[in-house]
Amino acid sequence: MKEAWAKDSSSVILLDMAWIEFSVSDVDGEVAEALCEMLSAHAPGRVVVEENRLHASLGDLPGRERKGFVASFEVKAFVEIPDDAEDRVLTEKTRKLKEAAHYLKAIRSFPDPVVRRLPDVNWEEAWREKHGRIKPGNKIVVVPSWDEGDFEPGDLPVRIEPGMAFGVGSHPSTKLCITLLEDTLRPGDRVLDVGCGTGVLTVAAKSLGAGSVLACDVDGESALSTREALGQNDRQDDPSIGIVHGSIECFSGKIDLVVINILAHVIAAMIPDVSRLLAPGGRFVFSGILSEAEKMLVEKITEEGLVIDERRTIVDWVGLQGRRM
Ligand SMILES: C[S@@+](CC[C@H](N)C(=O)[O-])C[C@H]1O[C@@H](n2cnc3c(N)ncnc32)[C@H](O)[C@@H]1O
Repeated sequence: MKEAWAKDSSSVILLDMAWIEFSVSDVDGEVAEALCEMLSAHAPGRVVVEENRLHASLGDLPGRERKGFVASFEVKAFVEIPDDAEDRVLTEKTRKLKEAAHYLKAIRSFPDPVVRRLPDVNWEEAWREKHGRIKPGNKIVVVPSWDEGDFEPGDLPVRIEPGMAFGVGSHPSTKLCITLLEDTLRPGDRVLDVGCGTGVLTVAAKSLGAGSVLACDVDGESALSTREALGQNDRQDDPSIGIVHGSIECFSGKIDLVVINILAHVIAAMIPDVSRLLAPGGRFVFSGILSEAEKMLVEKITEEGLVIDERRTIVDWVGLQGRRM
């Protein structure tokens, strides 16, 4: 009998299941994100993005200085099929995945997906091994919910269940957000986390001393994951945290700090609302910005009269921190 696992919201169940792996390698960050979203519909909670290689991008002329690095990602989705499934089931699942990838390919080209039936392994163990602790800055440590280990003095653990939503702390854009939050958030701040995903930044903001945190996401599953994260971090009854299934336009009143980790064109459309909601002197942290989209976003930010104070990068991802005058 093959031993695999599936998960509902509260428990791990053993099932007689086999798995197929659908993978696309050598894609850039934007395609990886789009594939991740597309594949999550077919393999909820079982999509992994791995940063594979860093290619040094050198100048054209001999002796010219290294310009930077370009990341290459591999996206893998694990789809369960009954252990005794006939080839017909496998073919049908594969067809659906390939069809979805085909539509994406019409917009941005990427290498052909590779599909294989996986050997009999313990997937619960394999999954857990993949997700370790992540400490992007000096204080916040993102840990998988099952990690019962000790922490260094000053560590602020954020427990996250790697599952349906984006945000286990491993993505460069989340790391940028966490380090910028550590340096920007002031005790007592009223914080808004737009696109909360797993709730990693909501919990991080509260642990860093926020007075209140409002979190929102257009994806209902993410709003639920954030609620789950509050439970994992013993904050389920904290009246100073609110979660909304929706986006920035749902909010009124004033906030001191807004954090948004979504692709640049989505942030750009939110800038008027950011300006409306920030109290004078209020700060923003934006991440999820691929370097090629930075110029467009910076123009939008400055047009609105907001000021950028800090720029950080990890590979080709950019994080910006600034304020309303
Ligand atoms: C890149 S993930 C960030 C998750 C988490 N905040 C983190 O930093 O790891 C982006 C999240 O934004 C959500 N999202 C996308 N567009 C949105 C919008 N217009 N308003 C609110 N949330 C949005 C997605 O559902 C997703 O959960």
